[in-house]
Amino acid sequence: MKSANVINLNAQTEAFCSCMKDKTQSLKKLMTYYSCAIMEVETKFNVLNEEFSLQHDRTPITDVKSRLKSFESIVNKLTKKGKEVSVFNIENFINDVAGVRVCCSFIDDVYMLVDALSLQDDVKVIAVKDYIKNPKENGYRSLHLIISIPIFLANEKKEMRVEIQLRTIAMDFWASLEHQLRYKKDYQFTDEMINELRICAQTSADLDERMNKLKCVLQD
Ligand code: GTP
Ligand code: MG
Repeated sequence: MKSANVINLNAQTEAFCSCMKDKTQSLKKLMTYYSCAIMEVETKFNVLNEEFSLQHDRTPITDVKSRLKSFESIVNKLTKKGKEVSVFNIENFINDVAGVRVCCSFIDDVYMLVDALSLQDDVKVIAVKDYIKNPKENGYRSLHLIISIPIFLANEKKEMRVEIQLRTIAMDFWASLEHQLRYKKDYQFTDEMINELRICAQTSADLDERMNKLKCVLQD
């Protein structure tokens, strides 16, 4: 007997292949548009970083990483949402096909960048999830934005959605390691480990708070 996972995977592969058959070109086009949107967002953060560094002799951004969601994850997400795999549904029901992660030096930098970006007149903020002020149950902290920005093509302007995750280096350290541990094969967290991870997140949040205070003292 086939396991549920195998049946599920077959169904997803079939859905993906049938989507691909006649839609290869429009799928390629859509993914290219998302790459362009990523470039636009990266440029916006690079510009803000340059300007801030000119004025304050330090850079608020330590790293910008971007990714396009894999087809496998796209198919998984649409299937979970009960949507068929189509170019239309990718564009309309998935907000994180284009993802940009911005690592910042201090907590204040996260909010400064969010404010600066949100004020730009070509940026529409669709959703904000502040997991810094309201951390997730497991201790996860970051600020998530879903925005829409235009990309300018030869004959048209297209609004594209991008998910932006902003976090400090300390938050990124915790999230990267927690992610690695969570996806270790055949492994389940015990209650004790869940608690330990939450304590680590709190320790790293305390560190962020103390570093942020030091920065404020130096600025005054
Ligand atoms: P998903 O993209 O399906 O997770 O949708 P969602 O609407 O629940 O989004 P949410 O904004 O809560 O999280 C989106 C992304 O944030 C995830 O894909 C991860 O990259 C990151 N994230 C959220 N929670 C955690 C967490 O507990 N640990 C880590 N390491 N990353 C997380
Ligand atoms: Mg996601």
